[in-house]
Amino acid sequence: MKASAPGKIILFGEHAVVYGRPALAVPVTQVQAEVEIRASDDNQTWIEAPEIGLHSSLSQLAKDHPIAAVIHNFRLQPGIPALPPLRIKISSTIPVASGLGSGAAVSVALIRALAGFLQQPQPDEQVNALAYEIEKLHHGTPSGIDNSVVTYARPVYFIKGRPIETFSVGAPFTLVIGDTGIPAPTRESVGDVRKLWGKNKAKWEEVFDRIGEIVKSAREKIERGERHSIGALMNANHSLLQQLTVSSPELERLIESAHKAGALGAKLSGGGRGGNMIALVEKETATAVAEALHAAGAKQTISTEIR
Ligand code: PMV
Repeated sequence: MKASAPGKIILFGEHAVVYGRPALAVPVTQVQAEVEIRASDDNQTWIEAPEIGLHSSLSQLAKDHPIAAVIHNFRLQPGIPALPPLRIKISSTIPVASGLGSGAAVSVALIRALAGFLQQPQPDEQVNALAYEIEKLHHGTPSGIDNSVVTYARPVYFIKGRPIETFSVGAPFTLVIGDTGIPAPTRESVGDVRKLWGKNKAKWEEVFDRIGEIVKSAREKIERGERHSIGALMNANHSLLQQLTVSSPELERLIESAHKAGALGAKLSGGGRGGNMIALVEKETATAVAEALHAAGAKQTISTEIR
């Protein structure tokens, strides 16, 4: 039994989304997590995840290890029959801790593979709820945006605690994603934003409101296919993220190089401090922007068409 799930990228609204404002995110299908499950020929369940150097029996993993927790939580659902010993192979082309949703994609693929193996298909809402529990182990107080986009594999307009709204893209547009190669310390940046907010709630609530307005307007522009205005909104969102102290010299270098190479707009994406930035480009300038990003230190770039 095999199941897979795509990566994701946040277009607008990270951090403010933790405080109830909307955010927009889209799947990135060029990168995937894949889980393959077979019955084990001994009495143990084995997990192999070469990308993170994991070769272990389930019983040796701590209960709160995200992969072990997916399996335990899945088993605890009502009506799920006992799992026989399994061989679980997890592979992923999604860079870890880069803001591309690798943790959520592994959870979703694993839940679907377990459900498929037991012939107990789970509705998306249930897959999403299980994956959200695991996101909490990854970074404390997640908004839930990662698991939602990865589960539904559609562009999502997300507000914490509200039913998922997907939206349509009026005219496809091209993004170049540039990876700083520095693991994004999402838990830390979310914690630092919380400290800032705690010191001056009125000031930061206003910043979150401004980000929320940008997100609403971006959704409208994307639905109407007004590509050029999306770039300006990305730049405006990035300035507010700078104020929230979640950018970094490496991200700034990549963003600046994208602008110089002709991007229509650019911003950091996700938790910040490391991880990825995104640049909106005309199809024709995608290669030039990707080259400029590499020259400015990007460890990896992905060009993806959002549709
Ligand atoms: O670093 P990522 O892409 O997993 O995103 C984190 C997004 C935040 O808004 C900073 C946190 C959250 O839980 O939404």
